[in-house]
Amino acid sequence: MGQKLTLSVIKADVGGFVGHCGVHPDLLEEARRMLAGCDLLVDFHVTSVGDDINLIMTHRRGTDAEEIHRLAWDVFVACTGLARERKLYGAGQDLLKDAFSGNVRGMGPGVAEMEFEERESEPVVVFMADKTEPGAWNYPLFKVFGDPFNTIGLVIDPKLHGGFRFEVHDLIEHRAVDFVLPEEMYDLLVFIGAPGRFAIKSIYSRQTGWIAATSSTQKLNLLAGRYVGKDDPVCVVRCQSGFPAVGEVLEPFAMPHLVAGWMRGSHQGPLMPVAQRDAHPTRFDGPPRVVALGFQLANGRLLGPQDFFADPGYDRARQIALEVADYLRRHGPFEPHRLGLDQMEYTTLPQVMEKLRDRFRAVD
Ligand code: F6R
Ligand code: MG
Ligand code: MG
Repeated sequence: MGQKLTLSVIKADVGGFVGHCGVHPDLLEEARRMLAGCDLLVDFHVTSVGDDINLIMTHRRGTDAEEIHRLAWDVFVACTGLARERKLYGAGQDLLKDAFSGNVRGMGPGVAEMEFEERESEPVVVFMADKTEPGAWNYPLFKVFGDPFNTIGLVIDPKLHGGFRFEVHDLIEHRAVDFVLPEEMYDLLVFIGAPGRFAIKSIYSRQTGWIAATSSTQKLNLLAGRYVGKDDPVCVVRCQSGFPAVGEVLEPFAMPHLVAGWMRGSHQGPLMPVAQRDAHPTRFDGPPRVVALGFQLANGRLLGPQDFFADPGYDRARQIALEVADYLRRHGPFEPHRLGLDQMEYTTLPQVMEKLRDRFRAVD
């Protein structure tokens, strides 16, 4: 057993209650029971945001550890069983394969994992979103680690002043590219400004080389080759003492930026920051929402959570999100509320278009 600690957040939608809006408490109870009964973990916290179960786990087996991924897979399979018995909606939705094969990546569940030496004090934030996709983190992660108008620490803290390295994944072509900020900010923005295709995978401090943030980037529909819902991503961020402060990490969410997702994964909508108790998207299956849970790590123990967006400081962001939601909804089936055709490729729309194909005639 190494000295390093691994923080793994693995999530899946294995059945909704009711529709695609929440997780039945029996499933969460089963997940907790299974994780409690296993000696692989140092600690865990099981929660849900929308219809996704989130397993937040600490252990000493490193990232991509087969036994940890198998544990998560077994939990999701067991919960799928309960979901089927209860006829919950879309039971087993995110489990794209019949049998576990070494790693849950590529099998449906979302994974954000980082390995590090626990600092003297180790505050982390786990972000979990529902009814959106991995690129939804591009805007806030850029603000936190690249924008001095958000993160004053980049300017006045000598430990942050050296900047950060961003690892970006091209989710369509399966390529990765690194950019160092501040020098390559414009180059970075060329790509991450297109969040449907490019997503920030991880961020590292240039001064220490330490990992600062990591996110889940699986594209469910691409994996499945058909529409099975959005990817409802998670993201982990380390804070303070050489990393942005907790408040700097939360600040971008005061602006409910537009993300792809919402109803049928086919619409633009504001990402609304909410408390855990409000993490049940209902209006037009949304609006997309994000929960931020804070933990202090203590020798791998997860002390918390602190439910950050329960803060009335985010009331105004919610208000703006609702106003934006009203405005966008009035567009009904019209772009840009409905996603552009390129992004609709992996929804159910192409099937309808196919039916109408023969109705077209040539024009001069
Ligand atoms: C979005 C989502 C829901 C469903 C919608 C239709 O990610 O999960 O908005 O797309 O409720 O669901 P089905 O096609 O299962 O009836
Ligand atoms: Mg669902
Ligand atoms: Mg979901």
